Amino acid sequence: MTKPVILTGDRTTGPLHIGHYAGSLSNRLRYQDSHEQFLLLADTQALTDNAHDPDKVRRNVIEVALDYLAVGIDPERTTICLQSHLPALAELSMLYLNFVTVARLERNPTIKDEIRARGFGRNIPAGFLCYPAAQAADITAFKATVVPVGEDQAPLIEQTNELVRRINATAGAVVLPEACAVIPKSGRLPGIDGKAKMSKSGGNAISLSASPDEIRSAVRAMFTDPNHLRVEDPGQVEGNVVFNYLDAFDEAKDDLADLKAHYQRGGLGDGKIKARLEDILQAFIAPIREQRAHLSEHRDHVLNVIRNGTERARERTDATKREVVSALGLFQLRECNHGEA
Ligand code: TRP
Repeated sequence: MTKPVILTGDRTTGPLHIGHYAGSLSNRLRYQDSHEQFLLLADTQALTDNAHDPDKVRRNVIEVALDYLAVGIDPERTTICLQSHLPALAELSMLYLNFVTVARLERNPTIKDEIRARGFGRNIPAGFLCYPAAQAADITAFKATVVPVGEDQAPLIEQTNELVRRINATAGAVVLPEACAVIPKSGRLPGIDGKAKMSKSGGNAISLSASPDEIRSAVRAMFTDPNHLRVEDPGQVEGNVVFNYLDAFDEAKDDLADLKAHYQRGGLGDGKIKARLEDILQAFIAPIREQRAHLSEHRDHVLNVIRNGTERARERTDATKREVVSALGLFQLRECNHGEA
């Protein structure tokens, strides 16, 4: 029986952080056996809002690949591939752009939020506005039916499926499958400052390669309950970042429930809960950091992983592109279709 295909990816704009782990990497590790999984190093998409800094986009290809390998993504079971080196993705993107209107792209809630957050105003890079069509190309080129993404990406999958339906309707056949977004129930991990989004650029992230000192100071600086002034005061668990992180990384759920109850009753200081979280994060990150350091000494190995994965992905994506072109009935010089040529 063939396994369902999963595609996800990350823009190569910086090393990954523990929010990526809680939100998606942990699931990707679980999917390695049950699914045929592809991970896309999305350097082309990273350029859509980083055209001024291609160097950053290039450097982080290796960094993100190192993160994948260091957390235990196994290149024998998961194909790691590089977006810019898969020409079929660019070709399909160009085709798909004819099946979507500018108005529809502008209405995409993810894009709207991102345009606002980036302060583009009227100066939106065209590539940025159009990246939902390119992401549809990524997903469909692999014929992925499962796309594990954060909640904020759900509108992109919806738009992908709109394109799929339109293309299938035009072709008069089911060339492309629809995809299903898989969104983690736990929601996203906030930044250490309590802001909704953890991001390297926001300076509120703990990276998967953080040093023991960085982990310590991040936990010390972490946002708790601003009204919990004295140890004996009752404290709030909701919106308390330390507990958000404990929920994600503390395996001893019963102890954690007791800890929360104690905190809410009063008599438990922030120092105590932070010490517990720090121990857990130190123990969680240490082996990842070591594995990453080891792998970064073996750059050739990492390059080979990307090269081989991209090769495998190229066959797959080229085949889909040929199918789409032929199903749409476009002119092909090599094959005699529709009695032409
Ligand atoms: N948009 C994703 C991000 O912001 C990266 C990405 C590119 C992706 N292509 C994809 C995710 C296809 C899922 C499927 O990190």
